[in-house]
Amino acid sequence: MWDFAGRDTAIDLGSATVRMHVRDRGVVAREPSLLARCLHTGKILALGLPAQEMAGRNPDVRLVRPIREGAPTETDEAEYLMRALVRTHHKRRYTARPRLVVTVPSGMSSVHYRALQFSAFQAGARRLTLVPTPIAAAVGMGLTSSGRPEIVVVADIGADITDIGVISFGGLVTSHTALVGGSSLDRAIVALVRREHKVRISPASAEAAKLEVGAVPPIGRRPLRQTVVHGRDLTTGLPRGIVLTTADVARAIAAPVAEIVAAIQRGLSGCGPEISGELLGVGITLTGGTARLPGLDRLIRERTGLAARIGDDTGDAAVIGAADVLRSAGSQEPPARRSSPRPHLLTTVPEQ
Ligand SMILES: Nc1ncnc2c1ncn2[C@@H]1O[C@H](COP(=O)(O)OP(=O)(O)OP(=O)(O)O)[C@@H](O)[C@H]1O
Ligand SMILES: [Mg+2]
Repeated sequence: MWDFAGRDTAIDLGSATVRMHVRDRGVVAREPSLLARCLHTGKILALGLPAQEMAGRNPDVRLVRPIREGAPTETDEAEYLMRALVRTHHKRRYTARPRLVVTVPSGMSSVHYRALQFSAFQAGARRLTLVPTPIAAAVGMGLTSSGRPEIVVVADIGADITDIGVISFGGLVTSHTALVGGSSLDRAIVALVRREHKVRISPASAEAAKLEVGAVPPIGRRPLRQTVVHGRDLTTGLPRGIVLTTADVARAIAAPVAEIVAAIQRGLSGCGPEISGELLGVGITLTGGTARLPGLDRLIRERTGLAARIGDDTGDAAVIGAADVLRSAGSQEPPARRSSPRPHLLTTVPEQ
């Protein structure tokens, strides 16, 4: 009946990648969360991959990351990004007003919460539902559905944030969000190369090195690999290549990796004694891009004593789960507006 207004749409507003799922079509977009704005006119010139390709190459362009720490910190750009995605993937581009579900960090601040609400309605949402990422990811990985009492523990280790949630009956028993993730590892690699080689490399080169040779120590019998990163020599100002081995990268990222593990320990420590013991039999399911860092699952297992396994290789779990949540909430009337601005449980916000 509402198809003329656009099909149900789920958006995972990641700090690195924004993903969109449209009902009956599946995941239709995976774009870098990035916009290119002209320095002189202020016009937005590109978004997603084309914007990323302009990085450092076009002096008239300023790159804007509208989503930081999992929240729309640049509201205008976040709204533009959501609107552009909705228009591109709906038939009635200019009248599309879909029911929208957006995943949010479980510990999102009230300021960011309102900013997201504002951006989503400006972007054309007819109705907005917010789902904490750990719940969406658990549903997307087929681990839980609302009304089931089993405990599920999910840790989403993304680019800017690590979000851990203990879930039962489709809601969060406890959760913890820490501002650490893949970008922290990239920054640590940039800092090590600067400190030890006096060469400045871009965060994108650091990320490429991490993806190529990155691993959590001890590296054990894994073969030692190496890669070359290029940057600017700080003394001569000239381009220079530096060889980085798995051991170099492991040494660089040791501190933020320890922070990720500490965040997961903290998330688990919020459980009451009734379920704390049960967690040992449950284990942790990992999702998010950084969970794929070789050896991280082993380190989490060692430090928490809980079985940790990677539950999602594609990174799509949260957006697919959010779409499922919207589908199952479809027949229900929107609940009354919550007085607390923090979306600890599934929250539907009527338009103001
Ligand atoms: N194989 C891999 N090994 C290590 N890190 C990886 C791997 N693949 C992706 N990453 C890192 O994962 C991060 C992106 O993960 P993801 O797509 O889950 O983030 P996001 O959802 O956009 O961000 P957030 O959830 O923090 O807002 C990047 O920092 C990327 O470098
Ligand atoms: Mg994410």
